Amino acid sequence: MEYRNLGRSGLKVSTLCLGTMTFGEANEGSFMHGVGCTNETSFAIMDRALEAGINFFDSADVYGQDGLSERVIGDWFEDRGHRDDVVLATKFRFRMGEGPNGGGASRLHIVRAVEESLRRLKTDRIDLYQIHMQDIDTPEEETLRALDDLVRAGKVLYLGASNYAAYRLVDSLWTSKSASLERFVSLQAQYSLLVRDLEREHVPLCDRFGLGILPWSPLAGGFLSGKYRQGQEPPAGSRMEMWKQRYKGFDKPRNWRILAALEAVAEEIESTPARVALAWLLQRPTVSSVIFGARSTEQLEDNLQAAELKLDPAIVTRLDEAAELELGYPYEFMKHVQGRW
Ligand SMILES: NC(=O)c1ccc[n+]([C@@H]2O[C@H](COP(=O)([O-])OP(=O)(O)OC[C@H]3O[C@@H](n4cnc5c(N)ncnc54)[C@H](OP(=O)(O)O)[C@@H]3O)[C@@H](O)[C@H]2O)c1
Repeated sequence: MEYRNLGRSGLKVSTLCLGTMTFGEANEGSFMHGVGCTNETSFAIMDRALEAGINFFDSADVYGQDGLSERVIGDWFEDRGHRDDVVLATKFRFRMGEGPNGGGASRLHIVRAVEESLRRLKTDRIDLYQIHMQDIDTPEEETLRALDDLVRAGKVLYLGASNYAAYRLVDSLWTSKSASLERFVSLQAQYSLLVRDLEREHVPLCDRFGLGILPWSPLAGGFLSGKYRQGQEPPAGSRMEMWKQRYKGFDKPRNWRILAALEAVAEEIESTPARVALAWLLQRPTVSSVIFGARSTEQLEDNLQAAELKLDPAIVTRLDEAAELELGYPYEFMKHVQGRW
């Protein structure tokens, strides 16, 4: 397993980060609509991930009813005693309670949210505390001051952003700098061979300002594992069988073409589509660690192999071309004149 600095910070994280959104979520009518895994499987996945060198776990207060994902991780820490072997990341911002302050990025909600996450996680610190999505109803400076206080109090060590517009992220970095507040060291965002929108603004931004990118849904929720087939119903028990709207969004000629190119490469190099899709992301600039999901130890074993897979530049180019992003204005114009933007 390779370890990289998280952005420009001194924190070392494994290049694969274990996503825990599915933990404890075995019931229908749950956050994952029944396509999660039991506590027992979640424990087995964490045991094996740690054994394989993964030192980075990502959760959020909203994963699972009443913070179930965080509770499963907290129980695992208590049972196994591995708290200091893990760089623990979680998030706040979405609705966790009733009333006007039951969500958001206000000082009031942040102070409540962090205490509740610490209690569920059975720990006295969160290593990477991330805002799950920007909150345009709260001044960024209020959010940053509240987070800065948490760092000073030792409850949180590093700060991360997730799902931010580029303009807002630059503004946030500027606010941190001008007001001498802790700044975000990472950006967690959707990024995969199918979804490359980040490359217009966020990738250059993270490169310039030293943020580490943490791609989420790197397998497009399992689509890039190759188990879905054009014109056929999703296999029984798979995520896309339950998440019909999401599947509809993926069921486009461009995405099937990308999948075909990915499968061809995987066959040629005797690998699997999931491994190649993860390895492609690991070779993108500014990516610190890829947050993947696994609902069984079999899926985990497949995905773990990506950490050792180095794709030849010619193969990366083939995948880049198959998954070409429509840049739009003004990026297309700039690329035409200078080859980059
Ligand atoms: N910040 C955000 O807004 C945000 C949003 C989403 C996720 N996240 C984070 O990112 C993590 C990963 O997201 P994700 O679960 O969408 O990622 P993903 O890696 O794209 O999808 C994981 C799913 O794909 C299927 N799968 C995984 N490996 C497979 C394999 N080798 N073969 C066949 N199927 C395989 C499984 O689904 P099935 O078996 O059910 O089909 C699994 O649950 C989450 O746990 C969370 O930590 C963050």
